[in-house]
Amino acid sequence: MRIADIQDDIDHELVSKEQIEAKIKDIAARVSDDYRDKDPLVIAVLKGAVNTVVAFTQALSIPVQMDFMSLSSYGSGTESSGTITVRQDLSTDVRGRHILIAEDIVDSGRTLAWLVEELKRRGAASVEIFALLEKPARREVEVDVKYKGFEIPDEFVVGFGLDYDERYRNLDSIAVLKPSVYQGDEA
Ligand code: PRP
Repeated sequence: MRIADIQDDIDHELVSKEQIEAKIKDIAARVSDDYRDKDPLVIAVLKGAVNTVVAFTQALSIPVQMDFMSLSSYGSGTESSGTITVRQDLSTDVRGRHILIAEDIVDSGRTLAWLVEELKRRGAASVEIFALLEKPARREVEVDVKYKGFEIPDEFVVGFGLDYDERYRNLDSIAVLKPSVYQGDEA
């Protein structure tokens, strides 16, 4: 789905399909160099990171193993809290593995801070992060993102995996939603 398909719902485009592709290609080249002899395990947190991890791993020039996790953070509304529970776990033993987490967005940082600690606790040899988007204004917890995509303002963004009410994940770029789309929910 493209912006033109949902024009009435979109205020403006923030990161184009071409910009996303170019950035992912760049980072994938760096990662391919950095991990050439490390047999890396790429981990994605469902569901938002799916688009990112697919595009990213396809752009790598080395074979990697992939695994997925489903986490839930309990909090009010769109705010995530510090309490994270595993809804669906990895099927891979991470002991001694070099792990690269591919994430769509770092918001408060709580999800990634928890995940990095959890993977280290399980015995990973190393844990690094690739995040396509970061919202610095929302950061609450320190997280070291080695491979950085785009910094974006604190606006309601959808697309390339990011949803509003489970929709718009299949938009091929990243865009700001019109307030009228979610206004009813905020009343
Ligand atoms: C989003 C996103 C990250 C997390 C980032 O997932 O995919 O995993 O929030 O937020 P944080 O930095 O404040 O922890 P979400 O919980 O919305 O679920 P989804 O991926 O299924 O959309």
